[in-house]
Amino acid sequence: MNYLAILGRQPEISIAELKAILEEKWYLKEYHQNVLLAKISGEKSSSVLPVEISKLGGTLKLAIELAEKPLDFLRNLPDGKITLGVSDYSKNASRKTAIIEALKLKKILTRHGRSVRVVENKEAVLSTATSLHNGLSGKNERKIELIKVNDNWYKVIGIQDIDAYSKRDQARPARDAKVGMLPPKLAQILINLCGPLKPNARILDPFCGTGVVLQEALLMGYHVYGTDINSRMIEYSEKNLKFFNFNNYKLEVGDAISYKWAEKIDAVACEGYLGKPMSTIPLEIKLKTEKQECSTIILGFLKNLYTQIEPNTPVTIACPAWLRKDGSYSRLEILDEIENMGYNVNNKSREGLLYHRDGQIVARDIIILRKK
Ligand SMILES: C[S@@+](CC[C@H](N)C(=O)[O-])C[C@H]1O[C@@H](n2cnc3c(N)ncnc32)[C@H](O)[C@@H]1O
Repeated sequence: MNYLAILGRQPEISIAELKAILEEKWYLKEYHQNVLLAKISGEKSSSVLPVEISKLGGTLKLAIELAEKPLDFLRNLPDGKITLGVSDYSKNASRKTAIIEALKLKKILTRHGRSVRVVENKEAVLSTATSLHNGLSGKNERKIELIKVNDNWYKVIGIQDIDAYSKRDQARPARDAKVGMLPPKLAQILINLCGPLKPNARILDPFCGTGVVLQEALLMGYHVYGTDINSRMIEYSEKNLKFFNFNNYKLEVGDAISYKWAEKIDAVACEGYLGKPMSTIPLEIKLKTEKQECSTIILGFLKNLYTQIEPNTPVTIACPAWLRKDGSYSRLEILDEIENMGYNVNNKSREGLLYHRDGQIVARDIIILRKK
């Protein structure tokens, strides 16, 4: 079966996430810009994509290729009114090309006695919010979003629940502007970048702050272990995890550079120390001190961790990178040292794995490691 993943704002990160969790029998082919085709490679053509959209931080929509022509598919739907949205992800698509397709389908279906409501496009593709709020996520068999990419047609089977993310983000009782708020989506991405983990794997976040990684890992069904040098942060994590009714977690105050974690660790996913919050582009001298401090903490942590994990244990860390005047980002130069410690760095070129909004001063530079 062929699937289609519509990727988020930063497609390189979404692709890395999908690649990390899909087994090797799946291969990914990029269409263009932010449309990704995830396709099974051969022998087991009936295989079902082994991921749920609710656990993918970087994918906006998942769709499955239609086995028949769109009209035949729609005509065979159970009786009752059909709600139809059409998104045209072809390269030269416009709002008009999508609407024409939708109205063409509606016209023929109406002629065959079916009642159809077309969801209006503002652009060639329906936004995640429009798809979601019109119930086109594949749960209702007569509320359909069809996706066209050139001559191929797909049916949406999952839409990222942007409302659920906002709720999770905003409902948390303990927040701290100074440590920044890791978006839950990015927490999921960091966890998924560890690769496929066994269902009850224990994930460590040694810089757990207010606990976003822990919360998302618990929601994904993992065991979690959070530590932080600041006891106030541990109180915050405790409060937040309790708020979500979790009670199966371990939280301790500890310096990541020297702490001895008491449990076996199967994976590490974290946002490391990002330095001081900044609202303007830092001067070279300030940048130098910030970089020095962050590098010392992150390298110190990795050195300490090394003796406490098994070979092949995955470690993903969001490190800071600072905006320069020319719009590029200045990253920590720590990868050679990390390799020398005995880790494999998966994404050494790292070009794409920089998570940020336009103009954001401190971006998150994701590094993916595995103990050799
Ligand atoms: C960017 S914040 C992480 C925020 C977190 N992702 C959250 O969900 O709130 C970095 C955290 O690292 C902690 N930290 C800084 N130095 C540390 C160290 N040496 N060991 C452990 N934690 C440290 C800080 O207290 C802070 O909570």
